Amino acid sequence: MQQLRRNRRLRTNDAIRSLVREHIITPNDFLVPLFVVEGDNIKEEIASMPGYYRYSLDLLVQEVKDIWSMGLKSVLLFVKVPDSLKDNNGTEALNADGLMQRAIKTVKNTVPEMLVMTDVALDPYSSYGHDGIVEDGYIINDETCEVLAKMALSHAIAGADFVAPSDMMDGRILAIRELLEQENYKNTGIMSYSAKYASAFYGPFRDALDSAPGFGDKKTYQMDFANREEAIKETLMDIEEGADIVMVKPGLSYLDLVRDIRDVVDVPVAVYQVSGEYAMLKAAAAQGWLDHDAVMLEQIMAFKRAGAHIIASYFAKDVIKLIG
Ligand code: PBG
Repeated sequence: MQQLRRNRRLRTNDAIRSLVREHIITPNDFLVPLFVVEGDNIKEEIASMPGYYRYSLDLLVQEVKDIWSMGLKSVLLFVKVPDSLKDNNGTEALNADGLMQRAIKTVKNTVPEMLVMTDVALDPYSSYGHDGIVEDGYIINDETCEVLAKMALSHAIAGADFVAPSDMMDGRILAIRELLEQENYKNTGIMSYSAKYASAFYGPFRDALDSAPGFGDKKTYQMDFANREEAIKETLMDIEEGADIVMVKPGLSYLDLVRDIRDVVDVPVAVYQVSGEYAMLKAAAAQGWLDHDAVMLEQIMAFKRAGAHIIASYFAKDVIKLIG
């Protein structure tokens, strides 16, 4: 038979490729993670995340203005807590005048329209570096959920638009949702880290916040990376409990889950391109082994193609600078 169908006709030149392209990247796709520290005039580069910084609140102001001016409209806040304020119960997490609560206000006072999401987990506040309260070497679930709910409420009171629980305790979404409703924070959203795996890709992040676990690992609460169907179960349960947005984390090695989940849920799906993924590309590019910008765009597009509505990425500003 004579060849009639030639797929390469649709790839002949840039104009036709642009016309038939299925996905595009825009600033609306991104959630920008921000690391905040105590002090004045601090902008410190994170050793294992070249080109990414921790900011004190005074310098956070300019960074937030820059992000907004690039068309990026959502941030995800993390704080580095001094060791002297850490304990087993994460008491400092509930301090109405704590660093996170002040960071939320700083962002909102700088750009009121900026969407502010906050990390909710005890690890930056825990003397053990765990996401919950430790008892006899075990991370106790229900007591941790109670603290997480109070922590989420204090973020809502400080002005957070969404809280983002990243701890993987059972029932924490319900605990948070109930307390927010009860206290009349009905419009404060929850972005749940629903399918969060126990991953070695978080290493550089734990450097950034000095939050590595002091003993053991996180395998009794974060998911086993051998499991796929369990991710669907976790995600559907979080939606039932009241999650407005669900998330898969890490990103690139877990794109199968992004697609699986996108196919079965009716809420927006976020993906987190985590610190180790950022570090890998920066390292390879510094060696001259990979073309940084080309690989970065290819990876971001992979998230969109897999079905992500929202991409949390340390590359957000780099991408927008590149695509204009
Ligand atoms: C805290 C938290 C972690 C990350 C986001 N929130 C670390 C962890 O669970 O150990 C990882 C983010 C990254 O690696 O970029 N619970």
